[in-house]
Amino acid sequence: MSDTPTLQQIPHGIATLADHEALARQHLDDNAWAYFSGGAGDEITLRANRSAWDALPLWPRVLQPLSGGHTRVDLLGRTLAHPILLAPVAFQRLAHPDGELAMAYAAAALGAGIVLSTQASVSLEAVAEAVKPDPGRGPLWFQLYLQHDRGFTQTLAQRAESAGYEALVLTVDAPTSGVRDRERRAGFRLPPGIGPVNLVGLPTPPSPHLQPGQSALFDGLLRHAPTWDDIAWLQSITRLPVLLKGVLHPADARHAVSLGVAGLIISNHGGRTLDTSPSTASVLPRVADAVAGAVPVLVDGGIRRGTDVLKAMALGASAVLVGRPVVWGLANAGAAGVAHVLRLLRDELEIAMALTGCATLADASPALLDLDAGQDKRS
Ligand code: FNR
Ligand code: LAC
Repeated sequence: MSDTPTLQQIPHGIATLADHEALARQHLDDNAWAYFSGGAGDEITLRANRSAWDALPLWPRVLQPLSGGHTRVDLLGRTLAHPILLAPVAFQRLAHPDGELAMAYAAAALGAGIVLSTQASVSLEAVAEAVKPDPGRGPLWFQLYLQHDRGFTQTLAQRAESAGYEALVLTVDAPTSGVRDRERRAGFRLPPGIGPVNLVGLPTPPSPHLQPGQSALFDGLLRHAPTWDDIAWLQSITRLPVLLKGVLHPADARHAVSLGVAGLIISNHGGRTLDTSPSTASVLPRVADAVAGAVPVLVDGGIRRGTDVLKAMALGASAVLVGRPVVWGLANAGAAGVAHVLRLLRDELEIAMALTGCATLADASPALLDLDAGQDKRS
């Protein structure tokens, strides 16, 4: 660690996640900013993720007994201090020299679960070693991108298992990157010394011999893209529970449950893959209905306030993940900045619960939301 985290490192006047975003813009260069903040295409989904949470009014009940209230939730056999996890975000050393290590220390200190990206810029073993001894830490999960070389993928999954990761999160919404205009305009590139260190040794894929009329995308990259058949394969090579991240459609959710996945993360990759795909808040109730409690359903995308967390729980989520906000905290003050972001969100969640008359998250149901008003605003 290049610095010891202290909350004194947070400048005065930083009171919200949005304040962290504005400050992070000053700390990050144009290259890193384009990568972390951008979405796909016209960024319609990126904006929709935010506006969908905003459009849902919380509908408070008064005079409820609140003493003994808490933010604890049960998830995959563990009780967590609160339902906020860190979404997998690649290349965090672009934001701070300590990257994923600082992120993990802060998450553990605040009891937040961690999902480490396959494209992390720190070794998966180093991150696990750093947080495993902390008794108050949240779950430690590894996000997996299936690589074209399934033998390499299997080794990667086994490394995660041996290092102490407790679940694999298979991301299924990004067989190819979206159309990232901001990155292309900024000429985004990884600076020397920052890269996907856990993929070192991955053989280069054999170049396809394309026939005239064949597509470099469909007949090239996507020849190796995962399909539903790979879920059983992945489950067969690991003892860890497998969750799918990037599911938006109730039919896909039902299919995944029928294959025995341990959980689902409703996500549109923070608006970075298919632009104009629906906001996660808008599909959450339908996916939760389709799954009918068979497995936990988590959600991410545009969660920036404790009220957003409460709304997600009210719509049937078991937990939420945050992506960009923790990167802003990291850019602003390393581990201390991440801890500050998590603390703000957790405190805001408690206040939102108190003010809606909701002592525990088990009490959060759609009745907490004025769904008709939400519909009116959306139409
Ligand atoms: C991501 N996301 C992501 N997802 C994943 O499964 N593997 C990854 O390596 C990455 N990398 C990544 C990089 C950056 C810069 C961003 C912003 C996002 C998606 C991420 O896990 C999550 O779904 C979204 O970030 C959630 O949306 P918010 O909270 O950023 O709005
Ligand atoms: C991204 C990839 C790494 O969103 O998932 O940048």
